[in-house]
Amino acid sequence: MSDPTRSTNPRIIAITNQKGGVGKTTTAINLAAGLAERGARVLLVDLDPQGNASTGLGVPAGNRRKTTYDLLVDEAPLAEVVQQTGTAGVLICPANADLASADMDLVANEKRSFLLHDALRQPAVDAFALDFILIDCPPSLSLLTVNALVCCHSVLVPLQAEFFALEGLSQLMLTVRQVRQTANPTLRIEGVVMTMVDSRNRLSQQVESDARATLGDLVFRTTVPRNVRLSEAPSFAQPVLAYDSQSKGSEAYRNLAAELMGRHPVLRVAEEPVT
Ligand SMILES: Nc1ncnc2c1ncn2[C@@H]1O[C@H](COP(=O)(O)OP(=O)(O)OP(=O)(O)O)[C@@H](O)[C@H]1O
Ligand SMILES: [Mg+2]
Repeated sequence: MSDPTRSTNPRIIAITNQKGGVGKTTTAINLAAGLAERGARVLLVDLDPQGNASTGLGVPAGNRRKTTYDLLVDEAPLAEVVQQTGTAGVLICPANADLASADMDLVANEKRSFLLHDALRQPAVDAFALDFILIDCPPSLSLLTVNALVCCHSVLVPLQAEFFALEGLSQLMLTVRQVRQTANPTLRIEGVVMTMVDSRNRLSQQVESDARATLGDLVFRTTVPRNVRLSEAPSFAQPVLAYDSQSKGSEAYRNLAAELMGRHPVLRVAEEPVT
């Protein structure tokens, strides 16, 4: 049902880095939870055939009625794909292994780079009264990631604080530039968030200071520490904010959500908490 107090123009943010295992899904899940805790309504689009964001938010494989594959390849209506998660204020378009063949299945489709764009601009999106749409991208610069870059307002890049971290960024930035020159001229870099930071480790400190020297204000003030609670939470199908609310991981993602909402205030007529 439409709620007149809610924004109908959600900010769409693609969480992407073609490097695997850098914290994209962890950031997608916990940033979504952090934003929801501050009263925002969030849709997480799981765009990874691994389906980790879906599992981590309490939608097990057997409960995924329709998936992002149906949304893109069969153009299923968004309302048929979106599901509730175990976290109040967070909805999900779940994914499963079907999505692995989307590249091939879409090869002859002329609109293939615009499918997510079109799906998220259906008038039916308004009914969800969303403030943010976060897209959890797969670890590649494939057609799926291109769909995310074409449809989003901005890109949020988790960067693991380890050697070579910055090298992978140039390929991503090149792809962003190409998409900007063609399909999405207003595409912006939302920011780079340092993940798995170990403040006692000299290399970790060095990578962070290199990133700040090279990228300046593009790097979020908030950094995400290496925190075992963050890696445990998905096996309990919960964001860390629910699994261990007082952990360092929870604190970091709360801060990241606050930093992001500081830039993109959620405009509402009535200030009521989300239930
Ligand atoms: N800050 C952190 N502290 C400790 N463990 C973390 C942290 N962030 C992520 N992890 C763990 O590191 C692994 C990779 O994280 P995650 O799945 O979020 O990365 P990803 O970039 O989405 O990976 P992929 O590229 O495969 O999609 C996971 O086991 C996750 O639990
Ligand atoms: Mg992932």
